[in-house]
Amino acid sequence: MEPFKLVGDHLEVLDQRFLPEKEVWIRVHNGFEGARVIKEMAIRGAPIIAVFSAYCLYIHSLREPESLMQAWEALRNSRPTGVNLHKILDEVKPIIENGGKPEDLYNFARAVESREREINEKIAKYGLLLFDRKKRVLTYCNTGSLATVGLGTALGIIKLAHRNGLIEEVYVGETSPYLQGARLTAYELRLEGIPYKVVPDNHIPFLISRGMVDIAIVGADRITKDLFVFNKIGTLSIALACRYYKVPFVVVAPSTTFDENPYSDKIEIEERLDIPREDYLYFAFDITPPDLVDFIISDKGIRKVS
Ligand code: MRU
Repeated sequence: MEPFKLVGDHLEVLDQRFLPEKEVWIRVHNGFEGARVIKEMAIRGAPIIAVFSAYCLYIHSLREPESLMQAWEALRNSRPTGVNLHKILDEVKPIIENGGKPEDLYNFARAVESREREINEKIAKYGLLLFDRKKRVLTYCNTGSLATVGLGTALGIIKLAHRNGLIEEVYVGETSPYLQGARLTAYELRLEGIPYKVVPDNHIPFLISRGMVDIAIVGADRITKDLFVFNKIGTLSIALACRYYKVPFVVVAPSTTFDENPYSDKIEIEERLDIPREDYLYFAFDITPPDLVDFIISDKGIRKVS
């Protein structure tokens, strides 16, 4: 399942807003269009939008090299909370400042893509160490092949655990209002033949209180130097319930999701205003403090947090 593909001089993006009902592909011809499909949530998930942005800059350099830096800025402004995108764009900036040759940008995008794939493979292997027996796992949002390159992060661990006979059941929070859990994670679990149940977000603490969850495994959009976890809104309530009922709460993220800076209230939390009701307040992400996190798993290994 590829969230996007390079076809000659443009990109084809699988519009995740229509999944799993319909497979709709959108053509993207430059970085501005790339920024728009990120903003509109056609493509989402912190690691994949970073890789996608690198490819957007490559195709932009083929058609409109004079506005490469403006395209870079549009991409940078498309998602403020997740850190992967910003890190990749900082990394590619010297190539643009050096003339932005298409072949350099292409090689950069390819390298970033394969780096992310290798990272996910390492994460899944570390994650398997969490499973000393068959477990009932709770996960949230979508952290699978639609959100990254390869198997996925938190969902990648679940897939590998299932292939090793270690999953009894997966509970997926539906993840209101875009329903990344109910639509995208459920779809990926179905394709893998993993037993699952989708649960409305407000059921999650109750499930945990009833002893129905052995472990919660979620992704992240940014982990600060002091280990505050920025992830899909709703993650904090899972962490709180897990700590109260003594269920391990595990955050999984590639090293590309780690911010070198400590937590600051200046980090922008996206508010998505395109939800159906104008009288709603809707933050896209929340922040879980490190004292609620049991473990963080990345491609560097497993870290005990609190
Ligand atoms: O708003 P989304 O769908 O991009 O939110 C995604 C998440 O919150 C994921 O947990 C995160 O990006 C990690 S994906 C590997």
